[in-house]
Amino acid sequence: MQHVPEPWRVKVVEPIHLPDRDTRRRRLEAAGYNVFALPAADVYIDLLTDSGTSAMSDNQWAGLMLGDESYAGARNFFSFRDTVQEITGLPFIIPTHQGRVAENLLFSTLIKPGMKVPSNNHFDTTRANIEVNGGEAVDLVIPEGRDPESEHPFKGNIDLDALDAFLAASGRQQVPVAMLTVTNNSGGGQPVSLENIRAMGEICHRHGVPFFLDACRFAENAWFIKQREPGQGHRSVRDIAADMFAAADGCTMSAKKDGLANIGGFIALRDQGLFDALRNMLIVIEGFPTYGGLAGRDLEAVARGLKEVLDERYLEFRVGQVQALWERLDAAGVPMIRPAGGHAVYLDARRFLPHLDQEVFPAQALTVALYLEGGIRGVEIGGVMFGTTDPETGQAVWPQMELVRLAIPRRVYTNSHLRYVAEVVEQLHRDASSIRGLNMVYQAPVLRHFTARFELL
Ligand code: F0G
Repeated sequence: MQHVPEPWRVKVVEPIHLPDRDTRRRRLEAAGYNVFALPAADVYIDLLTDSGTSAMSDNQWAGLMLGDESYAGARNFFSFRDTVQEITGLPFIIPTHQGRVAENLLFSTLIKPGMKVPSNNHFDTTRANIEVNGGEAVDLVIPEGRDPESEHPFKGNIDLDALDAFLAASGRQQVPVAMLTVTNNSGGGQPVSLENIRAMGEICHRHGVPFFLDACRFAENAWFIKQREPGQGHRSVRDIAADMFAAADGCTMSAKKDGLANIGGFIALRDQGLFDALRNMLIVIEGFPTYGGLAGRDLEAVARGLKEVLDERYLEFRVGQVQALWERLDAAGVPMIRPAGGHAVYLDARRFLPHLDQEVFPAQALTVALYLEGGIRGVEIGGVMFGTTDPETGQAVWPQMELVRLAIPRRVYTNSHLRYVAEVVEQLHRDASSIRGLNMVYQAPVLRHFTARFELL
């Protein structure tokens, strides 16, 4: 493929700074070897998340100046609503300040204790919002989606037979809604095919179950469909995205991803009765229906970002930049989830650090080593995030995989920054045997990864 340069030029710069090695060592020690506790100013290349970290365009910044901060009926709400309607074809729009509030509204309204919600893979906040309402979140991704080595082009697909059997066994009464995450963040940022989305819609509707997309990365998913799905290559991403939403009854969205904004989200849906119920709840927990927890200027930034994200030159660069990082690391023999995801590469810490047992947190150790070696911040998705203790036996229960996600913010880092990241990872890979494990010395009772503390072994 021909080299694809950044489809933007730089108008404003934000200095970044690599503290010297000794400072990095001290910062890690003070942070209890948990990169969530590092001051961001001491991070050189921050790949903690692609959420809320996008660089806005000149057009979005100009839109901020047109923010109408009226309590009710601000003009920015109408450009927001019209844009979401135009892209999704969904008539009823509820703005929220981020994705998890959309999830909270939907599940607190629909779920009664004992109910179940299937998905390919639920993202953590989606799962948590189902569980706090007494429901059960059920993951039904295809078997290839659980295999880090599989090269399936749509590893985010849901297992349709398993879904059909699940809905037949559970019934409409027990399943208030079915979700599908596009792209599948918890499964490595892998896409879902249009064929799979449509088939899921048909199965859900046959069982009388509403079907919602978790649409955070809908544009990246649509780009993968254009690239990989037979018969879709000649179509525009905008048309493909419209078809994705056409198969669904609604969606939840964090505009902090494919909204190219620093804050924002929404629910869009077809059912007026549900819309009325959600809107009443919105007024209780977020704000009036024409701002939903956002300033008018933020609504404008999202409205403009949603249009920009469908620019195919942007998407070609965006997904290509992640792919190029992955390919370079793959060529150097670095173990990762295959193939590249849309927004991140996922290092496989068990194979990267074969000398470390799961009890000493290999993915956390690799995350720490990345910061120490190069001032790079990734995020552990392994035993710290998902490890638990069996309440009966007191034994530790470990997740299947130990991953470090390097999530690439949108329009923030250049290819040169990512070349530096690749060099640091390759260096660590060569010296992997010198990386030491960790001992956890503090953990909170829930979501322990955010505040856990460690010491070096
Ligand atoms: N759904 C998915 C698939 C997500 O990736 C996220 C957030 C959310 C929902 C929640 O949205 O943060 O706006 O409340 N993912 C971020 C991440 C945090 O780092 O992957 P939110």
